[in-house]
Amino acid sequence: MTSTQTDRAVSLTVDGEPVSGVVEPRRTLSDFLRKDCGKTGVHVGCEHGVCGACTVVLDGRTARSCCTLAVQVEGSEVETVESLAEGSQLHPLQEAFWEHHGLQCGFCTPGLLLTVRELLADNPDPTDDEIRAGISGNLCRCTGYQFIVDAVRAAAAKLRAG
Ligand code: FES
Ligand code: FES
Repeated sequence: MTSTQTDRAVSLTVDGEPVSGVVEPRRTLSDFLRKDCGKTGVHVGCEHGVCGACTVVLDGRTARSCCTLAVQVEGSEVETVESLAEGSQLHPLQEAFWEHHGLQCGFCTPGLLLTVRELLADNPDPTDDEIRAGISGNLCRCTGYQFIVDAVRAAAAKLRAG
């Protein structure tokens, strides 16, 4: 894309790596991560803050990357789902989703994993009602949610066991 007078330079950290680029002021963080950084683990569904598929961690808290502009995150630290696994070693959350069928098509999964990681950091032993409230901002068209709740409960136990 040819840069224009209104384009802005942006530098940030993505999954622990420094990243910089030149973007249109209207470019969303989700598009920047997917198209400029190759972080296709960031999924884009509704593009208006409803579904949670685009969830990332921005300076330590979850955020909707479709409702955030790339120019707003200058100097920030962003984590995507791609930072969870260490090489071929899945994160305990990913293992629990795998083992308890917490996904079908997987479209919602990146956002859910980061949301659940935050939920369990804040509340390591949530009740099922607390899990359902915690994931209520992440829509899933496939699972009916029960298997996700099962997976989160199992992940919580794994993480508490260290
Ligand atoms: S794509 Fe961002 S909330 Fe749906
Ligand atoms: S597994 Fe398909 S949208 Fe959740």
